[in-house]
Amino acid sequence: TPLRAALILLLLGCCLSCSGGAEARPPAALPGFPAGAAGVGDRLFPDAGNGGYDVTHYGLDLSYDPGTGRLTGTAEITATATADLGRFDLDLSGLHVGRVTVDGRPAAEGRSGTELVVRPARSLRRGDRFETTVDYAGVPKPLTDPDGSHEGWLSTGDGALALGEPLGSMTWFPGNDHPSDKAAYDITVSVPDGLTAVSNGELASRAGSRGRTSFHWRTTEPMASYLATVAIGHYTVTRSRTPGAVPLYVAVDPRSDDRQTAAAMRRIPEILAWESGLFGAFPFQSSGAIVAHLPGGEGGYALETQNRPVFPGDSGPPAVAVGTLVHELSHQWFGDWTTPSSWQDIWLNEGFATYTEWLWTEHEGGASLARSAAAAFADPGNWTFAPAAPTASRLFAPPVYERGALVLYQLHRALGDKAFAALLRDWPAAHPHGNASTAEFAAFCGRLTGKDLSPLFSTWLYGGAKPARL
Ligand code: ARG
Ligand code: ZN
Repeated sequence: TPLRAALILLLLGCCLSCSGGAEARPPAALPGFPAGAAGVGDRLFPDAGNGGYDVTHYGLDLSYDPGTGRLTGTAEITATATADLGRFDLDLSGLHVGRVTVDGRPAAEGRSGTELVVRPARSLRRGDRFETTVDYAGVPKPLTDPDGSHEGWLSTGDGALALGEPLGSMTWFPGNDHPSDKAAYDITVSVPDGLTAVSNGELASRAGSRGRTSFHWRTTEPMASYLATVAIGHYTVTRSRTPGAVPLYVAVDPRSDDRQTAAAMRRIPEILAWESGLFGAFPFQSSGAIVAHLPGGEGGYALETQNRPVFPGDSGPPAVAVGTLVHELSHQWFGDWTTPSSWQDIWLNEGFATYTEWLWTEHEGGASLARSAAAAFADPGNWTFAPAAPTASRLFAPPVYERGALVLYQLHRALGDKAFAALLRDWPAAHPHGNASTAEFAAFCGRLTGKDLSPLFSTWLYGGAKPARL
């Protein structure tokens, strides 16, 4: 009958559009219990993260097949309810969801945009610790950010590279994808023999069976989801230590292994020692770097993934410039150890990292700090908005970086050498493994000096207009 034919067509269309089967509609909350919010209330990214719980640990068990691009995973998410919950969301973009359980009981599940909605068999009470498991699979699709960059699970030809700032992590695992919810991670990745899987934290074990190798990476120090990474491919691995005995794990894709990049990698111990001198002891158990290779068109960017930053190595030699390495490593203190409370606070990351680049250039005998500041001041591209007021599409635009660094330049002037040196050490240490906002930064600076810094902040941090002089 025509009705039946229409129905079949409808079903077929739905299956095709979801490429991996139709996804269920979101279930209603358990009667009498509220649904957790679909976002944490981030002004720039309203759907990022979720309300009603706080994740303490992610156990991700992943298997990747570079030939087909298929990722199969089980996520075990341990969380504490921060409200009574008859339903809650996880962030997940694409992929097909199979079985979902909460505390071992099958849970109802459905999808709406990038929300995976879960209704547990039993309601959760505020304060309850609960464990959610999600089986999922599919070919992850990269996201296009509001600024046009590509991120998420990107193909490197022989493997993949996961980039997540701000939202790419939801393309490869379900979670609470917002910087305010930091958690520990165990990421296990099974890949065909001959390939290496690198991630955050420390390599806890490596085991092979039936033509595949499993790499278990453990991150015990709290990490924001945007800082999680996995790099799969043919990597040359070098292990060493910094002068302060921090173990280093450096993985370089041979396609990106040019002479300047190799020379830059050898400077990691020196750079970390120099940064530790300015910012205090390296804040994590291990460090290093991942130099990947993204074929042209895949997009990507360097990112301060926790412990070891990643570099896409896509635009010819050098795959990694020393200045970029200095920048990403400084983020281990500014961004990774102390993480912005919301995306609007992103200048706290990029301003400090840019300022560190200026300091490094001076340290290396290049342009003085004053010269770098003058160049940033003169550049009209830096005066389009205030560093504390980015939009989603201008989250990583020049004013966030360069004007952010100019805020610190002005603070140095106002505070003097001694208090400013204390600021560089004491600010990241004030929220160790935690989060901080712009307002908290301003209050911290005020306490440090006892001076009224509000004119400085209203001109340089919150003000849109270019001041008359530097
Ligand atoms: N945080 C990175 C850096 O070190 C930049 C991330 C850019 N992300 C993006 N979606 N454009 O500068
Ligand atoms: Zn940066």
